[in-house]
Order: sequence, then structure tokens, then C-alpha cells
Amino acid sequence: MDSTTTTQAPITTIAEVGRHEGETVTLRGWLYNLRESGKLLFPIFRDGSGLIQGVVAKNAVSPEIFDAVKGLTQESSVIVGGKVRADKRAPGGYELDVGNVQVLQRVSEADPYPITPKEHGVDFLMEHRHLWLRSPRQAAILRVRAEIIKAARGFFDERGFTLTDPPILTPAACEGTTTLFPVDYFEEQAYLTQSGQLYIEATAMALGKVYSFGPTFRAEKSKTRRHLTEFWMVEPEVAYATLDDLMDLAEGLISFLVKRCLERRRADLEIIGRDVSKLEKIAPPFPRITYDDAVKMLQEGHAKGAVENRFEWGGDLGSPDETYLSSQFEKPVMVHRYPATVKAFYMEPDPRRPELALCVDVLAPEGYGEIIGGSQRMASYDLLVKRIREHNLPESAFKWYLDLRKYGSVPHGGFGMGIERAVAWICGLEHVRETIPFPRMLHRLYP
Ligand code: 4AD
Ligand code: MG
Repeated sequence: MDSTTTTQAPITTIAEVGRHEGETVTLRGWLYNLRESGKLLFPIFRDGSGLIQGVVAKNAVSPEIFDAVKGLTQESSVIVGGKVRADKRAPGGYELDVGNVQVLQRVSEADPYPITPKEHGVDFLMEHRHLWLRSPRQAAILRVRAEIIKAARGFFDERGFTLTDPPILTPAACEGTTTLFPVDYFEEQAYLTQSGQLYIEATAMALGKVYSFGPTFRAEKSKTRRHLTEFWMVEPEVAYATLDDLMDLAEGLISFLVKRCLERRRADLEIIGRDVSKLEKIAPPFPRITYDDAVKMLQEGHAKGAVENRFEWGGDLGSPDETYLSSQFEKPVMVHRYPATVKAFYMEPDPRRPELALCVDVLAPEGYGEIIGGSQRMASYDLLVKRIREHNLPESAFKWYLDLRKYGSVPHGGFGMGIERAVAWICGLEHVRETIPFPRMLHRLYP
């Protein structure tokens, strides 16, 4: 017998005990909670895949085993042997009649596990994020995140997209110079990437339909429930795509992700407390409104007293504006054709109204706001040079990017979806900080 098994019984996980009904199994995990009632002990174990309640009857086990369980403290690591019994009242549908326990480490009462089932403040939990992750709700969120990432990759893989990884160290800005993280790159100035977009425009010209999926960085000084300084973005980029094609793609992606989570992560969504009836409504078509329409809605909202400040045409939508707009719809709303002046330098102007950019932001419902931003890209060499100069960007760093407009330039476009924003909405969370194992934010670099 090695140190990781206590009995000959097959090792399984809590998620899979249902396959072993009536059999004796070995589970390896931690004590989550312990209740006592006379000669019965009810330890709840967790193993990362779920929770299961055990039952230990004093007259059914040796005194050593009974005392070992009785003395267990929260988060003590244990290997448990027991018989799986179906129980309709049990949360996972099964209970374990414990016959054997091996305690790997008993957490000392002198230095107990700091996160107890009672309420803790957010600051305390963030300081203990490395432990907070063990709580069932946090683990459920991470499983939903993993499902969303897998589904997003699958969505593109199955539609003829090729995954191409852009660099993380870059010489220039993609999304404005105010949120760059500088990196000392030998003798040169480099920055952590804000988006893979510029690079996947090059790979799209090579491969047609591509996507990237990786970490992106913004030195956001804003402390909001939507901003991280390090976040993950999935970005498709498509040669010959028009704005309408991009909106179809975004609508398809979001609907697919939600459907997948409902199919495969319903139990986790329940643990999180998500009202899944809201997610069940997410299917194409999504409403598509122009920026002009959005301005009208905001001004009407202001007249009704539902929007604090009167929104003027020409401004960028702020968080409260997005919250208001997105709470007007049950599905994500796609707002297209913003004024070019509030958007990035690379966006193609609308030929009918060149003051507008052929761009789209997708705002998630229930007040979640922007989860996707994208556009058609500027195809003209001359106009792009002009824009790079207007935005005071270093032309030399964009020479390669301009080459793409010299050698067979075509209309093309793409978008980026922030994984954490999508997870926050699908899970119905207050704040993006719970959507990523170790969030990086203004004033948060530990743990
Ligand atoms: O709208 P953004 O800035 O667009 C781009 O970066 C484009 N280059 C993408 C493209 O067209 N390929 O960012 C895209 C998405 C946002 O809609 C949002 O979901 C997320 O990235 N995002 C953030 N998420 C968390 N924290 C932040 N600070 C974020 N900034 C953007
Ligand atoms: Mg944006």
C-alpha cells in the first residue's frame, strides 16, 4: 500500500461516486465541515470535484477511526474509505458510510484554517485568495470559466479558424497609450500587449480565419467592477469580413457559450445562485442598434430620470450608460457605428458617414455592459498612416502593420471578448475579481 491509499477500494472522485453505488470506494480530499449528533458524526468532505456527506456511526467503526474523524478540523487532508449509498436528500444524491480514514494532515487548532463558513469581508477574502478558491462557490465559478474557455476554443476550431498566438511583449500600443504597462526590453522600450489584434491581422492575411486566446494587459487606473489589469481575451480575425459578418459571429459565439454552460455546468450555476431562466433566453437574433439609437435611448432615459447625466452625441459610452442600455434588453445588445473619434486608430470609417467607425460593442444584459469590442479594420494605406500620425503613435513600430495594406490589402475585421467579463455575466457575479484565480487590479498584486 502506498501513502495515497488506505484500502484496496478503488479510488474515485466525489463527482463520480454515482458510478459506484453500493460499492466501497476511496476518496481523497479535505474536511469541509463536521457535524455531530450523539453517536453519529457527519463529516462533509470535498475533493475539488464536489462535496459529499459522510456518516460515521460509533458502533460501526473502531474507536480509533471514530476519534480520528471526531478530531478533524476544517481543511484537514484525509483519505476516506466508505460505501456509497444513494440518498435523495443529499445534495449530490449520494452519501458515504465511512469505514476508514487516514489523516494526512490535521490542521492545528492553534492555527486554524482562516476562512470559516461565516461571512468574511472582501478584502480579507482577497488577501486569502489562495485559500478562498477552495470554497464551493469559487470552485464552481472556476469550472464555469474553464467551460467557457473550452467552448470558445471549440467554437472557432470547428468553424475553420486557426489558433495563432500573438506576442505578449510588443513595441507599440494597440488600444491607446494611456493604459500601457512598460517593460524594460534590453536596450529597447517594450510594453505588455493590450490585445493580440494587430498581429492576428497579419496571420489572418496568411490563413484567412484565425483567432488568438491569451493574456492581455491594461494599466487601468480605474477601480470598477469590470476592470482588471491582466485579463484573458479571445480574438477572432477574419479576412474579407464585413461589420455584419462580425455581428453574426459575435452573436453565434455568445449564444454557443451560454448554451454550453447550461448543458454542462448547470449544477455549478446553481451553486453560484445564478437565475438560469435569464440565460435560457440567450439565442440569436440579438438586437442591433446604432450608436445614434443608443444616444436617443440614453437621452430618453435621462428625461425619465433613469439616467443621471444627459448624454451628448459624440461621447464614448461610460459604464453607467452601458449599464442603462444593457438593462433595457433581455439579450445582449449590439451597438454599432460609434463616432470614430472615441474609438481606436485602426477602425474602418463608414463610407456613408465617414465620421463613424464600422465597429460594434456587445453589451451583456442585466446591466453587465460591454463584453465584446470589435470592428472592420482600415484597409487603406494612406488613411492608416494619417490616423497613426493623428494618434501620435510611433510610425516606425507600425511599419510591418502598414505592410499589410501594401501587399494585397482586403476588407477584414474581428473582435475581442474579455473572458472575465463573459464569466461575470454568465455566472451573475457582482465583480470580475471572482472570475479569475488570481485577479490583478489596481492595488492588488498579492497573492
Ligand atoms: O474593446 P477592447 O479594448 O478591444 C480590443 O482590444 C480590440 N483590439 C479587440 C479586437 O478587435 N480584436 O477590448 C475587448 C474586450 C472588451 O469588450 C472587454 O470584454 C475586455 O476586452 N476588456 C477588459 N476586461 C477586463 N478588464 C479590462 N481592463 C478590460 N479591457 C477590455
Ligand atoms: Mg471596448
